Amino acid sequence: MTFRTLDDADVKGKRVLVRVDLNVPMDNGAVTDATRLERIAPTIHDIANKGGKVILLAHFGRPKGRNEKNSLKPVASALAKVLHKHIEFADDCIGAVAQAAIAKLKDGDILCLENTRFHAGEEKNDSVFVDELAKLGDLWVNDAFSAAHRAHASTEGLGHKLPAFAGRTMQAELVALNKALEAPKKPVIAIVGGAKVSTKIDLLENLVTKVQALVIGGGMANTFLHAQGVKVGQSLAEKDLASTALRIMEKAEAAGCAIILPVDAVVAYHFEADAPHFNYGMDAIPDDGMILDIGPLSIARVNSAIDDAATLVWNGPVGAFELHPFDKGTVEAAKHAAARTKAGK
Ligand code: 3PG
Repeated sequence: MTFRTLDDADVKGKRVLVRVDLNVPMDNGAVTDATRLERIAPTIHDIANKGGKVILLAHFGRPKGRNEKNSLKPVASALAKVLHKHIEFADDCIGAVAQAAIAKLKDGDILCLENTRFHAGEEKNDSVFVDELAKLGDLWVNDAFSAAHRAHASTEGLGHKLPAFAGRTMQAELVALNKALEAPKKPVIAIVGGAKVSTKIDLLENLVTKVQALVIGGGMANTFLHAQGVKVGQSLAEKDLASTALRIMEKAEAAGCAIILPVDAVVAYHFEADAPHFNYGMDAIPDDGMILDIGPLSIARVNSAIDDAATLVWNGPVGAFELHPFDKGTVEAAKHAAARTKAGK
């Protein structure tokens, strides 16, 4: 595994474009889970402490053009609190506005540029847009592991234009992933959750050939359940991907990888914290209900899969973990895995 890290970068006095993932869950203008902000703090502190000018690039949501609802301004304020440092904000990520804000930066200052997706060139990885971004920096640091499956201008294009380095989060994730998938202690299990199958198809197809069991949770599980004919009511599911889900299951079977799907669920009728909720078996999900977490039987199954494993790779929550109490399945399984890790297993 060869890649450059911040240990190889001379950042002093340089304009450092740092791609971070600021796509955090928000409710009424407030960040409801700051984990991503906490994860990128070491990279930002590292560059600022060495006298680099930190220029943050990130997307937020999936706007089609400029939309104030998707402004990064409130996220930048939340990040400033996590860092205990002032963060300047510029209303655009390219052009005169961004250039003027960068010109004012002193060594060690931090600036957050507005949502890169306000420009169509970001998702198209358009070379003119990449050049506009590249003009703003001397170096590019990618610390957005969780957005690295996107070949967009700020996540991929810039790497061809500026000297490129992995930030601390990216470095930690790549080292861990390499350890877990290249020469792991077997058996290996993977837990994959989150909302979207569509963004993780390649990941799933790759994983089923490398792990002995794959636990699927979150909105993604609903897509697989729907593909098997289970009624998932109003739950998040990518129903158009049913054939993809079936193909992944066939591939898993051929590779000897067990697929573990939820057998019961916590169902609510509103997507909000502390919404009244009920447990149902997967054969009885109400038509107007929404699956927001895995149920107790499923938690026990996930924990027993963890007990069978010597290595665990985990990507994405198994429920709507940003909303209490729908974080229960994710937190219980994580605690179980942590206890086994602590016990040296
Ligand atoms: C995420 O939150 O999953 C990443 O930031 C990627 O976001 P996207 O799926 O909108 O590209």
